[in-house]
Amino acid sequence: MNPDLMEQGRERLSAHQDAQNPSPAAGGAGYGRRIEPGQLDLTHGRILYLDEVSVSFDGFRAIHKLSLDIAPGELRCIIGPNGAGKTTMMDIITGKTRPDQGTVFFGGTIDLLRHSEAEIAQLGIGRKFQRPTVFEAMSVYENLELALQGSRALSASLWGRLSGAQKDRLAEVLALIRLADAMERPAGLLSHGQKQWLEIGMLLVQDPKLLLLDEPVAGMTDPETERTAELFLALKGRHSMIVVEHDMGFIERIAEKVTVLAEGAVLAEGTLAQVQADERVIEVYLGR
Ligand SMILES: Nc1ncnc2c1ncn2[C@@H]1O[C@H](COP(=O)(O)OP(=O)(O)OP(=O)(O)O)[C@@H](O)[C@H]1O
Ligand SMILES: [Mg+2]
Repeated sequence: MNPDLMEQGRERLSAHQDAQNPSPAAGGAGYGRRIEPGQLDLTHGRILYLDEVSVSFDGFRAIHKLSLDIAPGELRCIIGPNGAGKTTMMDIITGKTRPDQGTVFFGGTIDLLRHSEAEIAQLGIGRKFQRPTVFEAMSVYENLELALQGSRALSASLWGRLSGAQKDRLAEVLALIRLADAMERPAGLLSHGQKQWLEIGMLLVQDPKLLLLDEPVAGMTDPETERTAELFLALKGRHSMIVVEHDMGFIERIAEKVTVLAEGAVLAEGTLAQVQADERVIEVYLGR
């Protein structure tokens, strides 16, 4: 990792820790702090680390020596042509696909390749697939409640069992995803964009440390896309996010650092302006 990235990581780390734990005692650079059980080790300024990851399907190299670093609180955009391996990369991070080679770490100490898909979700990595999968017959609020309580909510009466803190969190998420006015509405009656926000809300109530979002604005109207950009900008810093999108207007709206994937590896990385000016990126993706 180059010194610039290390420095950015350090700055992010301290901003992130302040956001996570606003007590004054938690300030400072974050180095030398003891790692509590269940707490992520972010001392190297990265929440996710992929090194030389490769996977082939029937001899086809979908991911080839992919290396990537995500800083705590970062909002990373990933772009690239169809078949570049963007979704496969998310499959690997979430444990759905096992790579043939390489290293995948969550924080400095958690080797994700040693964990199951369910364990990885428990560790705090939330994933949003392209198609919304909300429970259509249930209300917006019930969907969020179910996501918060998991299977426990199904066992007994749903009502009156949330703690005050949990209710506060639901209210906060409802406001963030702008569905407070629609909380009683059956999810099946929401617009496509609203369903997508509800599903993001269902991830947020679980307070994931890292959110993976695969083509979150596909099929959205322009105003819905704009609202989604505002939502992601509001989430930045509090959650680390990896956003895969083909909609360049949306990327432009939210981008800080952009990674271009092609043929399963990083083709270019930098600000949007930097990658847009890169001849190789223009050739394989933007110039089409
Ligand atoms: N489980 C699998 N079995 C076989 N081939 C696969 C599997 N998963 C992905 N692939 C192949 O790997 C390549 C990368 O696919 P992937 O879906 O990751 O691309 P992508 O960058 O997400 O593309 P898009 O922008 O179209 O969503 C494709 O050629 C795809 O067909
Ligand atoms: Mg994909």
